[in-house]
Amino acid sequence: MAKIPLVDILRLDGKTALVTGGAKGIGRGIAERLVEAGASVVISDIDAEAGTRVSRELGCDFVKADMASEEDVRNLVATAVEKHGTVEILINNAGIYPFRPALDMTAEEWDRVQAINLRGLFLLSREFAKAVRQSGSGGAIVNIGSIDSFHPSSVGLAAYDASKGGVLMFTRNFALEVAPLGIRVNMIAPGGVATEGVTAAQGNIPEEVTREFLARVPLGRWGEPDDIATMALVLVTPLSAYVTGASFIVDGGRLLT
Ligand SMILES: NC(=O)c1ccc[n+]([C@@H]2O[C@H](COP(=O)([O-])OP(=O)(O)OC[C@H]3O[C@@H](n4cnc5c(N)ncnc54)[C@H](O)[C@@H]3O)[C@@H](O)[C@H]2O)c1
Repeated sequence: MAKIPLVDILRLDGKTALVTGGAKGIGRGIAERLVEAGASVVISDIDAEAGTRVSRELGCDFVKADMASEEDVRNLVATAVEKHGTVEILINNAGIYPFRPALDMTAEEWDRVQAINLRGLFLLSREFAKAVRQSGSGGAIVNIGSIDSFHPSSVGLAAYDASKGGVLMFTRNFALEVAPLGIRVNMIAPGGVATEGVTAAQGNIPEEVTREFLARVPLGRWGEPDDIATMALVLVTPLSAYVTGASFIVDGGRLLT
């Protein structure tokens, strides 16, 4: 393959990128970097007010989509293809992490976590890959898993951990399936990242659990959305041209402790 000069290697001009859950937190951070790299970015979110506002701030498109709805997911890809012709990049970021011990959890609450974090990620990956197959453009998918894909970070997250363990194995198997289409599929496993979602969840998490979590981060700070966004850039550019089915832990060293 022709060697791309280093100054061009992070450029995404002419590429279209979908970012789910792009209205806040990690998704917004990734969308910002993709816009900066020159991609046409479509953010989607269940929160239409925040999504519309952020799309104006970043200069990108917004499509309202609930990842639990197959119809919304199909519409998201169709809208992006209609507007931009092709899609080359998918960031499966939308996710929820309700803090609730399994013994207190209802079947409906369990199903909602899986529907958004795992089933929705599958549905969108499928629709995206079909669009890429149609265009022949090739592409890159980045799934946002978690350090909980590998090791539980706290009691109270059994449903979440089951979904994120699923994201890890889906990433690997789907990478195998779509490699012949020129689609690379990788996962980022963030540690604790200071986002709107984490702040909201902290109301339900005992203070000592949060304190203990942070005390065990060797780099000594919360992650920021941009810590995840810069890794995502690596995974959607030729910096990682020969990487697929892999997982990248971005956690300040938390899993080492
Ligand atoms: N923040 C962390 O510490 C952390 C750590 C590991 C993994 N993650 C993962 O990173 C991803 C983003 O987390 P975050 O902290 O930025 O979350 P966040 O709550 O700050 O933002 C998530 C966004 O997703 C949207 N969303 C929620 N449900 C949706 C649905 N059904 N359909 C579409 N959009 C929906 C929300 O409206 C919000 O804009 C999640 O998958 C999460 O599991 C986060």
